Amino acid sequence: MSASTTAPARDRLRIAIQKSGRLADPARSLLAACGLSWRQSRDKLFCFGESLPVDLLLVRDDDIPGLIADGVCDLGVVGLNELDEQAKARRQIGLADAYQPLRGLGFGSCRLMIAVPEEWDWQGVQMLQGKRIATSYPAILAAWLKEKGVDAQVVELSGSVEIAPKLGTAELICDLVSSGATLAANQLKPVETLLESEAVLAGPVNELDDARAGLMAMLLRRLDGLSKTQDQKLLMFSAAEESVDALARLLPDAEPLLRLPGAGGAVRLQTMCNGALSWQRLEELERAGAQGLMVLAVEKSLV
Ligand code: PRP
Ligand code: ZN
Repeated sequence: MSASTTAPARDRLRIAIQKSGRLADPARSLLAACGLSWRQSRDKLFCFGESLPVDLLLVRDDDIPGLIADGVCDLGVVGLNELDEQAKARRQIGLADAYQPLRGLGFGSCRLMIAVPEEWDWQGVQMLQGKRIATSYPAILAAWLKEKGVDAQVVELSGSVEIAPKLGTAELICDLVSSGATLAANQLKPVETLLESEAVLAGPVNELDDARAGLMAMLLRRLDGLSKTQDQKLLMFSAAEESVDALARLLPDAEPLLRLPGAGGAVRLQTMCNGALSWQRLEELERAGAQGLMVLAVEKSLV
């Protein structure tokens, strides 16, 4: 690439998130938990980063992959469904991959599913042969149909897909299912899963080569620190020296017990546990000699 076509170095990272919708609030909260804060501009489409040079762009989720591809934004919080659809659509017209999911974010879980009228007696994918399927995910659906060897017509709709069978524009649909309420309200039932989706942090395929690279690495490290600590609990208690071995056996899934000197010959113990510590488990530890049991949530960690 010649110097004249090289994008100018930027020193602020720009992240696209959904302006409104089901990913909007969790995306903002997650980024705030990573230590980011913003001064909200009046039109609320651009939020200037205050704590760090990381700005937010509030957009339609469908626009996020394209904004990353065009280099307008460096990162985006978007459903894997949207990212995958647009990646497949790019490939279908011969364009190179321009973005990739960097981290799963653990919210916005849903499935892209085939749903048919409730009265259908579902016998398998061969029932789709020759049918019209309404969807907002034509590229994923087409690839899936091809893989299954089914010849069906993909009817692309940008919204209100679930109404298509009633309107007669398609016999069935392929749409996102979260709680299943939308399908039920439209007398449809889910029968096949094409994609398990969740919100992801998406980024460019090519690495950044200016100040933004360091910001992105820091953000990813903080995200990893958060997701690692999400299920972690610090367990603290005291016990007499002779009970320690029995207590350690009751905590096989925890890290080895850290021993600290305690008062009156007792040992103070602490360990990191993954997953929930039930009341029942604590009572069991108490019966085995643990005293002053305390379970603390872990807020941050650098790993
Ligand atoms: C999706 C999907 C359904 C609904 C399903 O739309 O298109 O309409 O969610 O959710 P449920 O199973 O909990 O009823 P979404 O609200 O994500 O908006 P979109 O049309 O912008 O994708
Ligand atoms: Zn959408």
